[in-house]
Amino acid sequence: MSFLYKSEPLRGARWAELFAARAPEIDFHIWPAVDDPSQVRYLAAWQPPENIAETFPNLELVFSVGAGVDQFDLSCIPEHIPVVRMIEPGLIAGVVEYATLAVLAAHRDWITYIAQQQQGQWRPKPVCTADSRRVGVMGMGVLGRAVLEKLRDFGFRCAGWSRSEHNLPGIECYTGEQGLEDFLERSDILVCLLPLTDSTRGILSTELFRQLPKGAVLINMGRGDHLIEEDLLDALYRDRLSAAILDVCSVEPLPKEHIFWRHPRILLTPHIAGMTQADSSAEIVLDNLRRHREGAPLVGLVNRERGY
Ligand code: GLV
Repeated sequence: MSFLYKSEPLRGARWAELFAARAPEIDFHIWPAVDDPSQVRYLAAWQPPENIAETFPNLELVFSVGAGVDQFDLSCIPEHIPVVRMIEPGLIAGVVEYATLAVLAAHRDWITYIAQQQQGQWRPKPVCTADSRRVGVMGMGVLGRAVLEKLRDFGFRCAGWSRSEHNLPGIECYTGEQGLEDFLERSDILVCLLPLTDSTRGILSTELFRQLPKGAVLINMGRGDHLIEEDLLDALYRDRLSAAILDVCSVEPLPKEHIFWRHPRILLTPHIAGMTQADSSAEIVLDNLRRHREGAPLVGLVNRERGY
């Protein structure tokens, strides 16, 4: 019975140690070292191998090493095999830190000051209080909720929007189409933490930017394909948006010639907002293996119809 890991090798080496200590009955392999594919019962991957079903005929469980599963073609994974996405404290903490950093950077005009430093300009702007700033988070799953709770504690006026209804103390919660309109028109800083699905692809578009208060800031920590890149450039050009902070792009790494690299009102990071941490994620995977054996509910089980 073996477990195949196909992702960042240093994390894989740490998982191998932890598996050896905690689940010695499982042979742990790091891709591409697989002796006998028919022995593979569990697969954990960031980018999954091709032809999963044919290559691993005895597969029982698939893990995404990341919080999202959009990189998997779920239709190629037989229905009876549960797919689990990564919900682990190390990754959640990273997302909360990044969102806090980005919202504070937007709130305290850091993108303006970075550009001003490059021009040798000393031009202070008035400092607004946190309670005068309205932050909106799209996506109220585990990540969105953790981010909202942290930002609320800074005193920002916080709202969340999601597909299903939520109730979170001190947070205005919006849902559905009508809810989206109301949510957008009160969001000075918009954070995207949505899963990427057919209904959220391209959601960050001219139509959506038009509904935000003029001069809003966009923070995209979801996926590059949530954003229509030309629409962002147009919104910045028209001052509909004042700045954008992007951790994700449609093509990663972002091609050298891409205009985002040089845009004075775009701050870019290379998809580092939340990273699966070796030790804490191994705990979650080992716990899910136990749950799977015992027929208990899996943490992070993907609903194939919803796509996340
Ligand atoms: C990172 O983007 C992840 O899905 O974990």
